[in-house]
Amino acid sequence: MNVRLAVIYYSATGSVHRLADALAEGATEAGAEVRVRRVPELAGEEAIDANPAWRSYVDATRDSVSEADLSDLEWANAYAFGSPTRFGLPSAQLKQFMDRSGSLWFAGVMADKPATTFTSAQNDHGGQESTILAINNVLYHWGCLIVAPGYTDPLLFAAGGNPYGTSWASGDGQPPNDAVLTAARYQGKRVTEVAARLAPQTAH
Ligand SMILES: Cc1cc2nc3c(=O)[nH]c(=O)nc-3n(C[C@H](O)[C@H](O)[C@H](O)COP(=O)(O)O)c2cc1C
Repeated sequence: MNVRLAVIYYSATGSVHRLADALAEGATEAGAEVRVRRVPELAGEEAIDANPAWRSYVDATRDSVSEADLSDLEWANAYAFGSPTRFGLPSAQLKQFMDRSGSLWFAGVMADKPATTFTSAQNDHGGQESTILAINNVLYHWGCLIVAPGYTDPLLFAAGGNPYGTSWASGDGQPPNDAVLTAARYQGKRVTEVAARLAPQTAH
């Protein structure tokens, strides 16, 4: 198999990171070579300090998770992007990373590569779908082939039945439950299997 999957995410308090790791597990089990990368934090220290969960997450991941680099977009022939909801939109941190991709977009580096998207919001209906769709707007512009879970496996119903991408309602900071982690693993497997079919064409 010739699949190189970059799982690129932003997380402030860990929910999206857990989904990223589960998606990466599923992709690895399906045979992909996987990089899990967090995009750079943009918030000031004062803002981070004001939320103990945010401070704790930033400190815990500073050395344990590598930062995403534009070269990861060149390396990969498949992508997964994750962000928490921010008022129904992706975080500025993930958007800023994507906004730095202009020269790669111009060169067609991301074109024809399969990509999939995942998210977490506090509330059951707090903007999960709109966040995924907003991230996907960038993927359309890049010329990616969007790989949605759809309703392609019964396990997706147990995870809340979101056909756009794995999503979690974190409430007061609860970690994703087993059903949602299973859906994230499935999403990683699915994007890997699609990428494997396309890999000879997207080896650039
Ligand atoms: C500025 C800001 C805006 C947010 N907007 C929403 C929102 O529109 N809907 C919602 O349900 N949760 C919202 N949240 C909550 C986060 O999306 C939610 O806690 C998410 O699960 C955090 O993911 P993380 O642990 O990966 O950082 C917001 C949080 C912040 C800080």
